Amino acid sequence: MNHFLSVEDCPNPLGWAHEAIKLKEHPFQDKLFGINKTLGLVFFNSSLRTRLSMTRAAQNLGMQTISLNVSTDGWQLEMDEGVVMNGKNAEHISEAATVMGGYCDVLGVRAFPSLVNVSDDYSEKLLLAFKKYAGVPIINLESATLHPLQSLADLMTIEEHKKVSKPKVVLTWAPHIKALPQAVPNSFAQWMNRVDVDFHIAQPAGMELDEAFTGEAKIHYDQSAALRDAHFVYVKNWSSFKEYGSVGNAPSWMMTLEKLKDTSNAKLMHCLPVRRNVVIADDAMDSAHSIIQDQAKNRLYSAQLVLRKILTQ
Ligand code: CP
Repeated sequence: MNHFLSVEDCPNPLGWAHEAIKLKEHPFQDKLFGINKTLGLVFFNSSLRTRLSMTRAAQNLGMQTISLNVSTDGWQLEMDEGVVMNGKNAEHISEAATVMGGYCDVLGVRAFPSLVNVSDDYSEKLLLAFKKYAGVPIINLESATLHPLQSLADLMTIEEHKKVSKPKVVLTWAPHIKALPQAVPNSFAQWMNRVDVDFHIAQPAGMELDEAFTGEAKIHYDQSAALRDAHFVYVKNWSSFKEYGSVGNAPSWMMTLEKLKDTSNAKLMHCLPVRRNVVIADDAMDSAHSIIQDQAKNRLYSAQLVLRKILTQ
């Protein structure tokens, strides 16, 4: 059974990015692949892009979709084994995931981290429970630690816009008012480390990501030095991994048009949603540097490619 939980489930990231780009030319050519198949979308957290792009991707492949917002419409789920369920959790994940897998041919699951307990979050307990019990392929719609559908769309976007064979790609931390997961930057780092780019990460001290994901990336604590001659600047906030879940306080790290002037006319990237004038200033968001909408559009084709691969395995 083919799952799509991380880059480990993608044997050829660059090849997949180019296959997804190719899909744009004939998005309805595989309309029969999903006939009489159902994609279940299980959301423990909010979503705009992931929900809509997965739904549209399934439609393009002839699939039906059903969707559940677990936190508002489902029973509260117990994740631990062997517990006496006399608390607030009404249903065990082993029953719930098995039932959902019985109704669906493929399941997508979104479940953010607690940002309280690092070992619980980084063990990907919930996603792996779906994998264990559902009996159907599982797609990661952003888990505690990773967001591979976003990363595939990001790689597609870089491939479409790059003007040199080995671009300098800088992932830079930016401020935020809330503690956000590390999933997008962790995942982006994993995918960048598997393709031929000059990959850099810039962050204030204390905001380092888990080295298991950043690998060989060049690490900077001086944002302006990191941005010099960059071809792509990926802006993202994340909360601290070291002081798990704490919000960094460095407002001067907000991305601006002025900062982009030191780059090699860099393309500006962000996965969205973005808080304007906190994470990225209006003048940068609305500039010709931005390829943020292209990234969002590519979410449809990254989703469609992954679904097609699962349907044709
Ligand atoms: N980038 C992204 O995953 O967007 P949503 O949270 O709106 O799905």
